[in-house]
Amino acid sequence: MTAVTGSPLVLGIETSCDDTACAFVDGSGRVLASVVSSQLAVHLPYGGVVPEIAAREHLRNWTPVFAAACTKAGVAIEDVEVVAATRGPGLVGALLVGLSLGRAVAWSRGLPFHGVHHLEGHLYSPFLGAHGEPAEAVPDAFVGLVVSGGHTSLFAVERSEEAARVETLAETRDDAFGEAFDKLGKKLGLPYPQGPQVDALAERGDAAACPLPVAAAPKGELFFSYSGLKSQAILELAKRGGPSEQDPAQWAQPLLDLCAGFRAAAVAQVIDRVARLHRRQPIALLAVSGGAAANRLLRRQLEAWCAAEQVALRLVPLVYSGDNAAMIAYAALLRQRRGESDDPRWVEAASRIAM
Ligand code: KG4
Ligand code: ZN
Repeated sequence: MTAVTGSPLVLGIETSCDDTACAFVDGSGRVLASVVSSQLAVHLPYGGVVPEIAAREHLRNWTPVFAAACTKAGVAIEDVEVVAATRGPGLVGALLVGLSLGRAVAWSRGLPFHGVHHLEGHLYSPFLGAHGEPAEAVPDAFVGLVVSGGHTSLFAVERSEEAARVETLAETRDDAFGEAFDKLGKKLGLPYPQGPQVDALAERGDAAACPLPVAAAPKGELFFSYSGLKSQAILELAKRGGPSEQDPAQWAQPLLDLCAGFRAAAVAQVIDRVARLHRRQPIALLAVSGGAAANRLLRRQLEAWCAAEQVALRLVPLVYSGDNAAMIAYAALLRQRRGESDDPRWVEAASRIAM
């Protein structure tokens, strides 16, 4: 046995989409290793993630990813005390690779197993330490905002050492925040994932030169909607004409302004919904996670709004905003502490599952 800092040592596996991820988290929530192997280059020629290819790539990548995580953490498979894998939502073929691996390890070694909901992983990720320190104690009550390529959601979380209750307060009615960035970026001719690139281009633009409306929701409603904004931005793009240069560094100012106007309206909608919720029931702590929580304007505006409203804010560390297995291992550790677990023989992968 290798020396492990704090029991139980949790092995986390995440293969819900196009990232093959493996992590080790110890009993204090300290991330000992978090390895993410991106399949971006393989899917690039197809303009998006091809489910069948994603599944095969996970199989190919798993062995080196697992070996790298063991080396980084200084642990061996014999040290693992709890096993966790994402059970959904995601691409079923891709999920099946990681879930089957996790189930097999847990069953063959008689270890506790957790089939973790992908969003539950994101939800608690703002409490992970970015520099190898133990996780911050998760508060008994908080509001979780998850912004990714598939979700734009607000959750009310109430938990204790014995139980956890997650209530969905708001979801998107159509496109998700990150998805809208990806779709506009695709129209601009950028490769997937376009979200971070549109964000970077927006940094160089002037939002006031291309104002776009913030999607309203009827009084008392909290839902998000991004397809109208996406369509308006694409119409605006048609008016301005697409990029004349392939290299975004050479793009003319009106295109940068369009990116900035789009981003400002997208972020303003998030702030509007959070502010509405706060008026309805004051938020003590807002925990923000998901791949699109890396958005620079979103982070700045949430920081400003929370400071003005005296709401405590936890923004997910950038290393854990995108899909990773540390968040899956950590969500499993919280479940393990509550005395929950799943029978590894019976956990099934599902493309869509409620929280
Ligand atoms: O959580 P994640 O890695 O995968 C999902 O579960 O969806 O999120 C990926 C999504 C993609 O849509 C990506 O374009 C978006 O997050 N994203 C961003 C930024 N960074 C990643 N969207 C806007 N601005 C960013 N900086
Ligand atoms: Zn995700």
